[in-house]
Amino acid sequence: MDKIKKITINDLKYIKELADHAFGSNYLNLNYFNKVLNSSLYYSWIIHNKANIPIAFLVAYKTSKQEIASYLDDKSIKLQVNDNTICLDTMVVNPRFRKQGIGKKLIENAMNQLFESSYIMYAWKNGKTINMEGIANEFNFKIIKEYKQLWKKDCLDNKFQCPSKKINTCNCTTIVYYKSLSIR
Ligand SMILES: CC(C)(COP(=O)(O)OP(=O)(O)OC[C@H]1O[C@@H](n2cnc3c(N)ncnc32)[C@H](O)[C@@H]1OP(=O)(O)O)[C@@H](O)C(=O)NCCC(=O)NCCS
Repeated sequence: MDKIKKITINDLKYIKELADHAFGSNYLNLNYFNKVLNSSLYYSWIIHNKANIPIAFLVAYKTSKQEIASYLDDKSIKLQVNDNTICLDTMVVNPRFRKQGIGKKLIENAMNQLFESSYIMYAWKNGKTINMEGIANEFNFKIIKEYKQLWKKDCLDNKFQCPSKKINTCNCTTIVYYKSLSIR
């Protein structure tokens, strides 16, 4: 596996393809990726294969109590979220390279580089399967909240596809994971 690098503008075409394949066309659009590249609140990493083609990426950003409360429309989440809390926002590994520890490596790298006190990450649960369960357990993330069908309306309104079922309605439960380094 190649070294982990920062995403550059040259990678955009490929990471957009990875994102479109995983989440449906334009769920993450070029505005999102331009923000990732240009905002000081965003951090991003990428792994290339031997032919220098990106095979995996991770985007993280500094979140805040306010942002989380407004996104989840839930002021009841009492966390140690502060202006240095990192949201591990989006990660995609090319399907051909999954289950080889690449996702785990990207998360580990982000936490080692950022070294912030707390992290939050969203996952989806369909049936009994949680897409990030293995990785969350590996790094001792705890589930702090579950929301039924949080993404359903977004999916219908914007014709996004459910990342789990690849259909235009999303009945997944959103899982909110949290990790504080003080409990590592
Ligand atoms: C979720 C995702 C990023 C995980 O990436 P990954 O590279 O497959 O992750 P890892 O290989 O580090 O770990 C995945 C699993 O493989 C296992 N694994 C890791 N290395 C392994 C190896 N060498 N052999 C067999 N299994 C291995 C891990 O224990 C983990 O276990 P789990 O199945 O119980 O979860 C990837 O599946 C993906 O891109 N999914 C679509 C998009 C998505 O869901 N993104 C996350 C939310 S934004």
